[in-house]
Amino acid sequence: MNQDKLKQSVAQAAVDYTLTRINGDSIVGIGTGSTANFFIDLLAPHRGKFAGTVASSAASEERLRGHRIPVYELNAVDDVAIYIDGADETNPQLELIKGGGAALTREKIVAAVAREFVCIADQSKWVDHLGVYPLPIEVIPMARSHVARELVKLGGDPVYRQGVITDNGNVILDVYRLHPISPVRDLEEKINNITGVVTNGLFALRPADILLLANEDGVKTITA
Ligand code: A5P
Repeated sequence: MNQDKLKQSVAQAAVDYTLTRINGDSIVGIGTGSTANFFIDLLAPHRGKFAGTVASSAASEERLRGHRIPVYELNAVDDVAIYIDGADETNPQLELIKGGGAALTREKIVAAVAREFVCIADQSKWVDHLGVYPLPIEVIPMARSHVARELVKLGGDPVYRQGVITDNGNVILDVYRLHPISPVRDLEEKINNITGVVTNGLFALRPADILLLANEDGVKTITA
């Protein structure tokens, strides 16, 4: 099975799971990326079964609106029942690296609000220890060089993601050579404390609650 088929199968499993967790008043949080896009497309036929969505990026918002699925501002809703999103890496504790699509800040905000965070991934995202995938960091543009120097002090090798401006008007540094990241929460906190950092792509202080992981044999449900 190719990777897109795996992404599609895990997205279908996530739709099935979501339908067991929502009612007509529910708001569904929607992630960003190719796996989340499959989820949006497969959720569309069920648009009448929940009140609407909040989106973690302008791209996901546009796709949702294309399917005539209502999208609300996060500040306009009291509760997000469930948040479905992909990841760039996940470890067995369901700590994640996210931000390959530069949407990490809004993703982290929606994950913080959601009562339940379901990560959807294919087997290629599963690792014992995070950090082979370069860690994305969203940075205020004028702080880019300062933040990069501080990241070098932490042992990383930050690379400016050329030509990318986030939905929040900021830039991305991708940090190499951090593998193996352990303990993940400590590094998440240390990077959060660098002045000029908006968000880092480690999701360990608020990990996923459930991982749906697709491989050739089907979709496994994993909890930490
Ligand atoms: C977006 O910023 C990321 O956090 C995505 O969730 C992540 O890159 C996964 O993307 P794919 O589903 O396209 O692999």
